[in-house]
Order: sequence, then C-alpha cells, then structure tokens
Amino acid sequence: MHIVSTVKDMRQVIREVKVENNTLGFVPTMGYLHEGHLSLIKRAKLENDIVIVSIFVNPTQFGANEDYDIYPKDFKRDKQLAETAGADYVFYPTVEEMYPTGYKTSVDVSEITDRLCGASRPGHFKGVTTIVNKLFNIVEPNRAYFGLKDAQQVAVIQQMVKDLFMNVEVIPCSIVRESDGLAMSSRNVYLTQQDRSAALILSKSLMKAKKIINEGERDLKIIRNTIIESISKEAPVSVEYIEIIQFPSLEKIDILEGKVLIALAAKVGRVRLIDNVILEVQ
Ligand code: PAJ
Repeated sequence: MHIVSTVKDMRQVIREVKVENNTLGFVPTMGYLHEGHLSLIKRAKLENDIVIVSIFVNPTQFGANEDYDIYPKDFKRDKQLAETAGADYVFYPTVEEMYPTGYKTSVDVSEITDRLCGASRPGHFKGVTTIVNKLFNIVEPNRAYFGLKDAQQVAVIQQMVKDLFMNVEVIPCSIVRESDGLAMSSRNVYLTQQDRSAALILSKSLMKAKKIINEGERDLKIIRNTIIESISKEAPVSVEYIEIIQFPSLEKIDILEGKVLIALAAKVGRVRLIDNVILEVQ
C-alpha cells in the first residue's frame, strides 16, 4: 500500500491506474479507523480493482465550538488497518494542500442540509460537500462508499452527485455496530465508561421503535414517544432531535410508508452521538 500526500502525486497515480482500465473504489474518511470504516474498504475491494482511502480531518465541516482540535488521530494504526482491509492507496493530505491560501469556492446543497444534523451544525454539510467534491475531482472514482451511520450525509452526497452530473456511483453501506448495539464511531473513544453504558439506550430505543413498527404500529406520535420515553430513563443522555422522515428525500411524512428513516442525535455526557434505522414500511 502506498501513502500519497499531494494532489499532484495523487493525480499521477490515478492516471497510471486508469491506463489499465482498472475500476476505482474510493472511501473518504477522517481517520481513526474502526470496523465501520473497514467495512467500506472491504466492500470497495470486492467491487473494484483499486481502492483509495482518504484520511483527512476536514476543518470546514466543524463548527467553531466543535471538536476539530481534539479529533482523535492515529495515522500509524490507520495505515495498518487500511492496508489489511484492502486499500491500495491512502491519500493523506495536509489542510494547506486541500485548502490552499486564497481558496474561494464551496459547494452547498440547499434545504436537505438545514434539518437534522444541519440544524444544530450550521455550515457542516457545506464543509462536507465541498471536501467530498474536491476529493472526487482528485480521485475520479467509479464508485464511492459511504456509511448509513451518517444517513443524512449519504442523502446530501447523492443529491450533490445528481445535481452536478458527477460521474460517480455513490454506494450506501450498512451501519456497523459493537456487539451490544452501539453504532461504531471515532467519537466513541471520548465516552467515559458510564457514558458508554448510557449511550446504549440510543440503539436500544431505535430497535424498540423498529419492533413496534414491525408489529403493526403506524402512529408517528406513539413511535416518537416510545423512543423519547425509553431515552429519558437514562440521566446523562439529552436528545437533540428525533426525526421520522422519508429516505433519501428527507421529506416530512404524515403516514408511515415506503422507505422511512428514524434518525436521532443526542449528547451523552459531553459527547454528541448520532444513530438511525432505515425501514421499508408496507
Ligand atoms: P468519518 O466520520 O471518518 O466517516 C467516514 C465514513 O465511514 C462515512 O461514510 C461514515 O458514514 C462511515 N462510517 C462511520 N461509522 C460507521 C459505522 N459505524 N458503520 C458504517 N459506516 C460508518 O463521514 C466522514 O468521515 C466525513 O464527513 C467525510 C465524508 C470523510 C468528509 O470529510
């Protein structure tokens, strides 16, 4: 596996790889890799000749009071994990490389970025779409792999790709969870032992909602209250939002029908976590 850190060198690699008509799978990440990231890399390896993973903690998607400065990093470990999972190249640029002094262009998807995580993190998705656009322009992948852990991110990227006629197939991948149900996240390392146990209520409450829907419940209020009630029993958890909406349009729904996303964000202790389930409702 090779490490590439400049746009120029990455472009050279892409040119060489494409001469041989190889298909190219791309997995953008911010590093501190876990099984969730690795599942994307493994899937990309199964479906493409060459796999490129980017590791870049993107400053423009963090708000002023967020965790950019303390975002966990361990490049040495990431390198090993990426290689074992099947990456052929890791793109590992500096901030100055991706945002040279004087840059003036951003990409912004409207409306669907204002709700859910976008409501409490203004500018977050603009940072995400801008960096993903830049990365796509450098790597020119055939397929790009994104986890449904960040379901809104998947919807926003799909919208951008469609609206801008970008020549890449976005592949949404299932959420990978710890054996007790907690959705894997680089931010889980911030959790104290006590908060780690409290955080379990997030996935548990979503599974409870899924269960009552599967048993026939269709009343949105009752489903929402079931989640709220189950979470409210855990003292250190404060809910930011619980939304039951259509996926991937993220449109509000009156009737539970079709592909439905139940998404939530909550602060557990001082750590903000998100989780969701997507259901096909008849
Ligand atoms: P990051 O949080 O590092 O996540 C990289 C990719 O891994 C995303 O597509 C995310 O949805 C996926 N992922 C994270 N946890 C997962 C889990 N438990 N199961 C499955 N997939 C999981 O998302 C970002 O970085 C950034 O916003 C990025 C797209 C790289 C742009 O900077």
